[in-house]
Amino acid sequence: MIEKIKETVEFIKQKTNYSPKIGIILGSGLGSFADTLKDSVILDYKDIVNFPKSSVVGHKGRLLINKDILCMDGRFHYYEGFTMQELSFPIRVMKMLGIKYLIITNAAGGVNEDYLPGETVLIKDHINFMGTNPLIGKNIDEIGERFPDLSDVYSKDVREKIKINVKEGGINLKEGVYMAFSGPSYETPAEIKMAKILGADLVGMSSVPEAIFAAHAGIKVIGFSLVTNMAAGISKNKLSHTEVIETAAKGKENIIYILEKTIDIVLNLEE
Ligand code: HPA
Repeated sequence: MIEKIKETVEFIKQKTNYSPKIGIILGSGLGSFADTLKDSVILDYKDIVNFPKSSVVGHKGRLLINKDILCMDGRFHYYEGFTMQELSFPIRVMKMLGIKYLIITNAAGGVNEDYLPGETVLIKDHINFMGTNPLIGKNIDEIGERFPDLSDVYSKDVREKIKINVKEGGINLKEGVYMAFSGPSYETPAEIKMAKILGADLVGMSSVPEAIFAAHAGIKVIGFSLVTNMAAGISKNKLSHTEVIETAAKGKENIIYILEKTIDIVLNLEE
């Protein structure tokens, strides 16, 4: 695997001289953030050597790279049938390209009843409920250690700075614990009750493997969930991907503002 990672890193380096320090993964419905990135080199996933190929027909996937940011517009999910090894690939490429901070975004169901659909929540921790640990398999020592510490994946120091900074823009950013289910079915009301008892505020089907791969590689993680619906049994509505996409569209402006503020902060942090 390490040879493949290096091959991809070389391929990307041939296409651009930029060496950004921030990686971003855009969740469902957030692709328009990518269009705000100035002067970026754009590579379709399908053209990137060794990159996972999306199984979804018509699924767009592209990597945008500029001076400061490497942005994945389109993510790979466990429920699509990718192995965890495949999901780790882009994060490991980021590591070897010199990425120091990874901003992960996703659409999530709200378990915490203080949340409102359309609201963006800062992830403070996660619960891996996907049924496997994404790092199972031979460890790649060049990337990280066998038994990585996950006690501060979503760096508390950075979170504090983000909250203070967006407050100036009038946004009171809430924090929450994100619990990842494998999907693709949404959860049952009983599962959401369980999630709540276990300490979850948000549920979703992504992000946790990415956060673990980043932590393993020594990359600091910042996570945002856009609450697109209240979770099963809390919501009066039937859950649907259409609702998720519609609500994401409504909350988009807000999360893009928060992302821009976050990027400013991260660019000014010491490494
Ligand atoms: N559950 C899981 N994933 C989701 C949800 C949800 O309610 N909403 C958006 N992604």
